[in-house]
Amino acid sequence: MMNYSKILGTGSYLPEKILTNFDLEKTLDTTSEWIIERTGILKRHIAADHETALSMAENAARAAMKAANIAPSEIGMIIIATTTPEKMFPSTACLLQQRLEIAGCPAFDLNSTACAGFVYGLSIADKYIRDGSVDNVLVIGSEVMSRVLDWTDRSTCILFGDGAGAVLLGKSNEPGILSTHLHADGTHKDVLYLDTSVGKPIDVESALYLKMSGNHLFKLAVNILDELFDETLAANGLVKSDVDWLVPHQANIRIIQAMAKKLDLPLDRVAITLDEQGNTSSASIPLALDKAIRDGQIKRGQILLLEGFGGGLAWGSALIKY
Ligand code: ACO
Repeated sequence: MMNYSKILGTGSYLPEKILTNFDLEKTLDTTSEWIIERTGILKRHIAADHETALSMAENAARAAMKAANIAPSEIGMIIIATTTPEKMFPSTACLLQQRLEIAGCPAFDLNSTACAGFVYGLSIADKYIRDGSVDNVLVIGSEVMSRVLDWTDRSTCILFGDGAGAVLLGKSNEPGILSTHLHADGTHKDVLYLDTSVGKPIDVESALYLKMSGNHLFKLAVNILDELFDETLAANGLVKSDVDWLVPHQANIRIIQAMAKKLDLPLDRVAITLDEQGNTSSASIPLALDKAIRDGQIKRGQILLLEGFGGGLAWGSALIKY
């Protein structure tokens, strides 16, 4: 009998504090209207001082385990995608494993795949479940982007938010994850980066904050995702009309609209949290997925196309029968 992996449950965590575009108008040379028109973002959640990638990951993970009715002792692997980890090491995943009191299982972070990290994690988890070595995997995206932003740079700080999303992926006799497709192209390394480094002496002024060529990245993203969708559907012998839901990385509403158009999907078949949460990097896909599932929009049996792209560049997709 074939092993497949399936989404057994999802969970989210968002910090209580909300920062609106109007709040940003007070400290930056920007307007709410500009932000909405160019990005689709209205507000974002910001972590309190005591909140971290670990604390938010724990909340999201516990919600996913509860939804799946799986106890911590049944977890066989923990993968956390984060660009804003608790520490350089140990991994945030090891720290979460300690909190869940499940010493022994593999636990690791995908630290540098940025906004594509969650899809990378899902792909790895799927392979381990399919080969029969693990039954249940926690795949989490957790980010405190607010701590790596230059709050005086209006071209980047308006875009991001904090939060965590988790998926509990478990063994199944029937297909759940149909395929995953991962890519990277390091020739675009300068389009989006965070220079904090131990490889060279740190220039404190420039090393602490995320840097992005937004317009360049926008154009790259649209082309890359277009090809990625073709690749994903062709690998499964499916056509656009077979896709029930697009669950995209939440970077910019104009990119999301272009991707929906590519699939001939109306926007009410796209899981969107961008307006309320901004870009939460590797947490954005599981956050959007969890919301659409809990709101009763995404239903069992439907076909979902997940896509992520970000610094690296790194990008990837997952086609899933939910
Ligand atoms: N308020 C007002 N004006 C602004 C603001 C702001 N917040 N930010 C920039 N501007 C100005 C610029 O200075 C520029 O002015 P100029 O014409 O006088 O030079 C003008 O607006 C246009 O700037 P562009 O950068 O060309 O604007 P664009 O339409 O490209 O929108 C944006 C910028 C929203 C960043 C867009 O390019 C984008 O979303 N890019 C994609 C980002 C992305 O996909 N990131 C995903 C990866 S995230 C990750 O991996 C962590």
